[in-house]
Amino acid sequence: MSGAAGLSVDVHLSATDLHRALEEDVRVGLTSRPKSIPPVWFYDEEGSRLFEVITTLDEYYPTRAERRLLELHSPAIAALAGADTLVELGAGACAKTRTLLDAMGEDGPLRRYLPFDVSDDFLRSAAAEVLEDYEGLEVHAVIGDFHRHLDRIPVVGIRLVAFLGGTIGNLTPDQRQRFFFDLNCSMLAGDHLLIGTDLVKDTRRIIAAYDDGAGVTAEFNRNMLRVLNEQLDADFVPELFEHLAVWNDAEQWIEMRLRSTAEQSIHINALDLEVHFEAGEEMLTEISAKFTPEQVADELIKADFVVDGQWGADEGDFLLTLAHPYC
Ligand code: AVJ
Repeated sequence: MSGAAGLSVDVHLSATDLHRALEEDVRVGLTSRPKSIPPVWFYDEEGSRLFEVITTLDEYYPTRAERRLLELHSPAIAALAGADTLVELGAGACAKTRTLLDAMGEDGPLRRYLPFDVSDDFLRSAAAEVLEDYEGLEVHAVIGDFHRHLDRIPVVGIRLVAFLGGTIGNLTPDQRQRFFFDLNCSMLAGDHLLIGTDLVKDTRRIIAAYDDGAGVTAEFNRNMLRVLNEQLDADFVPELFEHLAVWNDAEQWIEMRLRSTAEQSIHINALDLEVHFEAGEEMLTEISAKFTPEQVADELIKADFVVDGQWGADEGDFLLTLAHPYC
């Protein structure tokens, strides 16, 4: 633990661990067929900035829809959870949590905020800002991988664990089930889980959200290649890859892909790897699953949770689900 008075930081994942994980993901992903790279690697400084821009675009409805739901329903959620500790998974810029923190503090028992993320970069400064704005709040940032370090989240107080933004949709159904189980195991009686999920809707609106007119999402997608160039000394020319957003109806998820516009060979020097792309070959960079309220409840129940409530199903765009471990 280290940090200024009031702010402490636990690091379970060093910059070296993170770099090794990137190497492994890229080695496996680029030698598979079809090629793929997991979306977690979008978010270097530029990628995080581009995502922030995406959240302001007309076409990208999820962020606005979730913010509105949090504004409307945080008081009810806070009252049901009765928590004094907010754990935020994938906290990033810690922005959307403030509504929840406010509701938990408003004649509630709020004492602690535990933002959890893979990357140090924003977490420290964002956590420090929350600390400044909430007098008396204990802020304890945890840097870890939520596939491996959920059991390192400090066991203190009565916790509300929030996983917002629809990021759960980046996982496949198998990965989600495993994640929900792990989460359940790391939770105690009295703790609650709040999940934000994007909902199935008119396919054209979903596709537009991932293929905006201004081309910001295309730049966000191609930024993955710049991350590999910088981190792994690769020689991708991002302009030789086209952005695609494809609705996968069988899986009910949107896929982001990068299509090589020419036959080309890429050198990933840090991996001592040469990768060949056919002209027109597509590489998967993200899945973002869309749900029905019943499906979210089902997946939670299968992982031994009890569902306390769902908000947003009527408005139709986005959904918040509150649950607690069955024990
Ligand atoms: C941050 C993972 C929720 O899946 O909608 C935005 C990322 N990708 N535009 C999403 C994203 C393309 C976003 N999540």
